[in-house]
Amino acid sequence: MIGSARKAALVRVRVLLGMVVLVGGLLSASISLGAGPSNEECFMCHSDKELYKEGPDGKRISLFVDDASFGASVHGKVSCVFCHSDISDLPHKEGGLKKVDCGRCHEEEAGQFADSIHFRASRRGDVFAPVCKDCHGKHDILSHEDPLSRSARANVPNLCGTCHEGIKNEFQMSYHGQLLARGDGRAPGCQDCHYSHKIIQAEGRIHRLAQANRCGGCHKEYYRTFRDTFHGKLTSLGEVAGAKCHDCHSAHSIFPAVDIRSTVHRQNLLSTCRKCHANAPENFVTYMPHADIHDPGKPLLYYANLFMVGLLVLTFGFFGLHTLLWLNRLVWEFVLRKKGDGGGGGDSKS
Ligand code: HEC
Ligand code: HEC
Ligand code: HEC
Ligand code: HEC
Ligand code: HEC
Ligand code: HEC
Ligand code: HEC
Ligand code: HEC
Ligand code: HEC
Repeated sequence: MIGSARKAALVRVRVLLGMVVLVGGLLSASISLGAGPSNEECFMCHSDKELYKEGPDGKRISLFVDDASFGASVHGKVSCVFCHSDISDLPHKEGGLKKVDCGRCHEEEAGQFADSIHFRASRRGDVFAPVCKDCHGKHDILSHEDPLSRSARANVPNLCGTCHEGIKNEFQMSYHGQLLARGDGRAPGCQDCHYSHKIIQAEGRIHRLAQANRCGGCHKEYYRTFRDTFHGKLTSLGEVAGAKCHDCHSAHSIFPAVDIRSTVHRQNLLSTCRKCHANAPENFVTYMPHADIHDPGKPLLYYANLFMVGLLVLTFGFFGLHTLLWLNRLVWEFVLRKKGDGGGGGDSKS
């Protein structure tokens, strides 16, 4: 019984695999052969460096497509007419060709992008807002794993910096930025705190509340101690006003605490706290934002916390027990009173 069921399952798996291979084969064949005109046909005209059209302002727009860099790109085997999907015959019409829709093949990225501040801005007609081709290019797109790619880890600050130049400069000076420039794979780039495609408004509620988690993904210990503090508990409760990592450390100018440029350096700390605690006295900064109350190696904090927790447990324990005993007594009083004022009543009914 079991044997034949297994065999049937195996056959099903084989049929499924066969279908996957077949569909895959057809797909790759159609991608490389292309339905409609071939890439070679397009290159007959578009490999001409002198081919251009005139833009609305009379400027020349080159229509040259570099065969070599297209061939070396991730889309090297993709048919031109898969992206330029409204061309089915040659010669194609002049002017009025549709914009390329990258989302036809990259649904996931396009879906994420559709929620972003960049997409909304470009839909509003903001010509400075990026769409797919502004970050990735058109005919020379490389995988982000290729160090020459615009979207390679080390190049992302420059990519975003074409429009956010001030922030790029700030970031590249910072400890994180220096680390990234040295090729340290652990260092964060813009996309680790903002994502690449679902970038949202930075001062909005969602972004503010998500930040501690993002920093915490790499700084687990500091995240843990942060969560034990008043600010951390406020954040866990979804409270926007409580200090987040970047309120104390800044977002793009992060330095070690001993560095004079750091917002948490001894000399700058008070003014950092005063952004929110306007009247904070000098001694306010003796407060420890990363006090580790669970580390026996720091006996003062550890035992103070233990004492407070003990006190809580004892207090609640005592009152809990007290309430239970009281309840017990109430129940007995109730039962006794019932028995006392009508024991015979129930009997007479039956
Ligand atoms: C016979 C030469 C020729 C061939 C073959 C050719 N094109 Fe063109 N293409 C042109 C010319 C000329 C223009 C400029 C038309 C204009 O002024 O709008 C152009 C423009 C374009 C544009 C830009 C349109 C715009 O509005 O900016 C795209 C995209 C394009 N071609 C894609 C292709 C693709 C894809 C193929 C292959 C399927 C191809 N072309 C084959 C001559 C050619
Ligand atoms: C991965 C998608 C993709 C593929 C594949 C592709 N293109 Fe394009 N092409 C674009 C995008 C994006 C633009 C910019 C205009 C737009 O947004 O529609 C563009 C623009 C063009 C233009 C106008 C000039 C320019 O550079 O803006 C020409 C000409 C052109 N493509 C020809 C080709 C030819 C020839 C091939 C095949 C060798 C090809 N394209 C393959 C995405 C693609
Ligand atoms: C603001 C710049 C920006 C825009 C706009 C953008 N991307 Fe990206 N994209 C990136 C960066 C940066 C990466 C590198 C991946 C990473 O580290 O997150 C990336 C990665 C990718 C990848 C590779 C994903 C992977 O993990 O293998 C694809 C595919 C992609 N983008 C497609 C798109 C498409 C399609 C659009 C338009 C709907 C788009 N991108 C718009 C910046 C952008
Ligand atoms: C006809 C389908 C198709 C269209 C349309 C298309 N792509 Fe692709 N794209 C592919 C294929 C296939 C690959 C290679 C996938 C792979 O190697 O895993 C790819 C790979 C990529 C990658 C590299 C992914 C990585 O591993 O980093 C990026 C980035 C990318 N495409 C961006 C774009 C952008 C931007 C557009 C629009 C201008 C676009 N694609 C339009 C089919 C398409
Ligand atoms: C370590 C996390 C982190 C990194 C890395 C990072 N950001 Fe930010 N970014 C933030 C936070 C947090 C905010 C919100 C700041 C605030 O509310 O004061 C922000 C705000 C912004 C803003 C909007 C606010 C403004 O000042 O205009 C932009 C634009 C921005 N970042 C772009 C970038 C770019 C570009 C990069 C890469 C060069 C980058 N960020 C790298 C965390 C980061
Ligand atoms: C082609 C220009 C361009 C590029 C490239 C670009 N951005 Fe932007 N970005 C904009 C514009 C324009 C806005 C403003 C949208 C608005 O306010 O409506 C914006 C808004 C933002 C915001 C929100 C700012 C705020 O006020 O809250 C963040 C965060 C951001 N971008 C991060 C990035 C990151 C990270 C990258 C790289 C992956 C990037 N941008 C690449 C043009 C660009
Ligand atoms: C992608 C991982 C990553 C993210 C996200 C990240 N960091 Fe870092 N950060 C690092 C690495 C790696 C170092 C260098 C640590 C070292 O040298 O041992 C560092 C160093 C630092 C330093 C310097 C002191 C030290 O420990 O060396 C501070 C302060 C810091 N980060 C704060 C933050 C804050 C605040 C955020 C969020 C706004 C953040 N980081 C987000 C990886 C990250
Ligand atoms: C209320 C302000 C405040 C908040 C919120 C805060 N920090 Fe700190 N952080 C400090 C101060 C002050 C120091 C230096 C003294 C210390 O180490 O306790 C510090 C130290 C650090 C260091 C070590 C720096 C060094 O040079 O050794 C890292 C890393 C760090 N914090 C990361 C984080 C992360 C991640 C978060 C959020 C999960 C966070 N901080 C939240 C104030 C804060
Ligand atoms: C982004 C704003 C912000 C920053 C920056 C900030 N805090 Fe707070 N903090 C709050 C809020 C909001 C509360 C809760 C409301 C309250 O009690 O004022 C709070 C509460 C506190 C509390 C507990 C309640 C109290 O008032 O005694 C302490 C202690 C505290 N913060 C210390 C600091 C220290 C020390 C710094 C600087 C290293 C700092 N905070 C920076 C927003 C901030």
